[in-house]
Amino acid sequence: MSDDEALGLTDIFPTVVELEKYKYNFYDNVVIEIKGQELQNVNVQPSTGLLPWPASTILSQYISKFNDNFKDKNIVELGSGVGICGLVASKYASYTVFTDGDPQSNKLLFDNIKDNNHLYKNNSNYSNQQPPIELLSWGKTSSLEDFKEKYNDLQFQVVIGSDLVYVDENIDPLFYTVDKILSTSSTPSPAFYLSFLDRKNHLPTLQSVSEKYNFTMETIDLDTFLDYKPSTMSRMFVFKRK
Ligand SMILES: C[S@@+](CC[C@H](N)C(=O)[O-])C[C@H]1O[C@@H](n2cnc3c(N)ncnc32)[C@H](O)[C@@H]1O
Repeated sequence: MSDDEALGLTDIFPTVVELEKYKYNFYDNVVIEIKGQELQNVNVQPSTGLLPWPASTILSQYISKFNDNFKDKNIVELGSGVGICGLVASKYASYTVFTDGDPQSNKLLFDNIKDNNHLYKNNSNYSNQQPPIELLSWGKTSSLEDFKEKYNDLQFQVVIGSDLVYVDENIDPLFYTVDKILSTSSTPSPAFYLSFLDRKNHLPTLQSVSEKYNFTMETIDLDTFLDYKPSTMSRMFVFKRK
């Protein structure tokens, strides 16, 4: 160990990670350009919300292809990160709220939403502003109460999320949050669309937790809408009220 390391001086000048530009072409002529980091060593990049994850492309393809499911709905994106799926949804939704539990990603998310205003600029529900971003931590009652108080006039019919399942312990807090948000809706079939890479066989936990919160779990066949071969770990489900 060097003298500097022994004295704990090595973190004084944190490494600056450059932002890359990412361009996506989805169905229905949806074009999105966002900024985000490249995947780095975890010591350099402590937040997973600063870069786009592969499952976001899957959910975005789905939303743009089956856009009728999202038209005129009030939508919450959980764990937005750089915001790709929420941006696609904002083209069709009546109202979209982007959320994340990590405040580190909010500045980048704000800029990405601003830079893609072609998707939502004709939507008068934002009164010439952009769709809102909220700090929302899954499973935290206080965080949810603040959220519900702020949006108490709105019923949310759809929740979306990509790459939110990578730690089994997070699945219950995630569904607690989804359950509370969709409980604002009086329509018969509020839905939670989730895409992710099943890196550690999370399906048994997903099945039991979704049942606990009274949702059915339907597999969405990726071959019906993807125009490329995704990782074999890729999964997508829609959870609906029983
Ligand atoms: C792997 S990233 C996926 C980001 C984005 N959805 C995508 O696919 O590119 C996971 C995201 O979930 C957020 N997240 C993780 N745990 C959370 C929690 N307990 N509450 C709220 N957000 C959380 C992270 O901050 C991050 O933005």
